[in-house]
Amino acid sequence: MAQYRICHSPRLSGEVSVSTAKNAVLPIIAAALLTQEEVIIHQTPRLTDVAHMLGILRSCGAEAETEGTDARVRALAVDSPADHGLLRTMRASVLVLGPLAARNGACSLTMPGGCAIGQRPIDLHLKGLQKLGAKVEQEGGTVTVSGFLKGANVYLDFPSVGATENLVMAATLAKGVTRIENAAKEPEITDLCHFLTLMGARIAGAGTANIIVEGVDHLHGAEYTPIPDRIEAGTLACAAALTEGNVLLERARTDHMRALLFKLSESGVIVQEDSRGLRLRGKARHPMEARTLSYPGFPTDMQAPLMVVATQTHGLSVFLETIFENRYMHVVELNRMGAKIRVEGQLALIQGGHTLTGAHVSATDLRAAAALMLAGLAAQGETILSDAAGHLMRGYEGLEEKLKALGAETEKVEDTERE
Ligand code: EPZ
Repeated sequence: MAQYRICHSPRLSGEVSVSTAKNAVLPIIAAALLTQEEVIIHQTPRLTDVAHMLGILRSCGAEAETEGTDARVRALAVDSPADHGLLRTMRASVLVLGPLAARNGACSLTMPGGCAIGQRPIDLHLKGLQKLGAKVEQEGGTVTVSGFLKGANVYLDFPSVGATENLVMAATLAKGVTRIENAAKEPEITDLCHFLTLMGARIAGAGTANIIVEGVDHLHGAEYTPIPDRIEAGTLACAAALTEGNVLLERARTDHMRALLFKLSESGVIVQEDSRGLRLRGKARHPMEARTLSYPGFPTDMQAPLMVVATQTHGLSVFLETIFENRYMHVVELNRMGAKIRVEGQLALIQGGHTLTGAHVSATDLRAAAALMLAGLAAQGETILSDAAGHLMRGYEGLEEKLKALGAETEKVEDTERE
């Protein structure tokens, strides 16, 4: 696999455009299963997760291709079982469950695996579908959902993003009205609901904890451009804050990034909303406290990148990860670079002010890979980052290229030590 060679970075400066959000595009592609008409999604990011989701739809029988930056999907007939190999490649494959259950009245899926950051169960998805009248059977790693869906009141024990998305999509074609209480409020859910409404769905309360869906007989095709990626924008903002840069992030939706921007601003970074997006200037200096929460709280996907910023502030920062049970795997690698971070359960104590020194580090998951790339920018000397290319290609459209466009010195090299 390729490695990245990352040098200590000068102050990043210039402007880059933020790509369309991975976590908005994936459910929207799945939603295309709800209609026989063509769906076109513009500005689709070139990510392996997007390619995998389109592959899953093709394996079900849909036409699903990319043309330039458009994804075009036409699910005329989707009665083939989804490809188990593709289903296992990513957690988000579970998002075809609700649409296929609603469209075909039945769906069998390989249970999506867990991943490095946690068990990632789908009990809330399945419990919600049962409330909508589906029969759910699990056997040998396969889950089968079948039956005619009827509107119902569903309460989510946890505001799960994926469960909310699956249940909203299933409810659009269920008979009657569905109310989802304690729904997740992430911007990607609001975006999905906007798209579904364009397809003819009847949805109220998107972006709130109470979403009401009135089922309709059928949905029609639509064209849509999903929202920019708030996590990519946040990651680039952290890179600017680490290097005392002056960076403009075009297309960044600051209204989706309030929690992170407050943390950076409290730490001393100058955050300016610009008609073209978001400008960040200056360095993060003061320690911070961050507790990951469902939206609009501080996003768990920003925990690792912001932790790198915290290592360079002066004082003790305290992070609490409340969403995933195993999302501190980047800490060991950061400490090998000279950071002073102690993990106590879900708490991480970051003693700032210690210089990071380049080392050979390895990435365990998508956001850890991005965080370690940022650490390489801040570290003295050279950092070799292994096992990151696959992760980064899944979730960031050209992160390395964007950092280089802002002045970072990084390059992809072949991993000569390993096959
Ligand atoms: C989405 O994952 C995102 N992925 C994640 O981004 C993000 O970290 C997460 O939401 C939280 O914001 C996509 O949108 C494709 P959840 P999802 O269901 O839907 C537990 C990234 O880096 N849970 O809100 O899987 C679960 O174990 C990825 O881009 C249950 O217990 O997140 C976790 O602890 C990582 N039962 C918590 O809820 C369930 O049925 C949050 O999960 C479902 C979830």
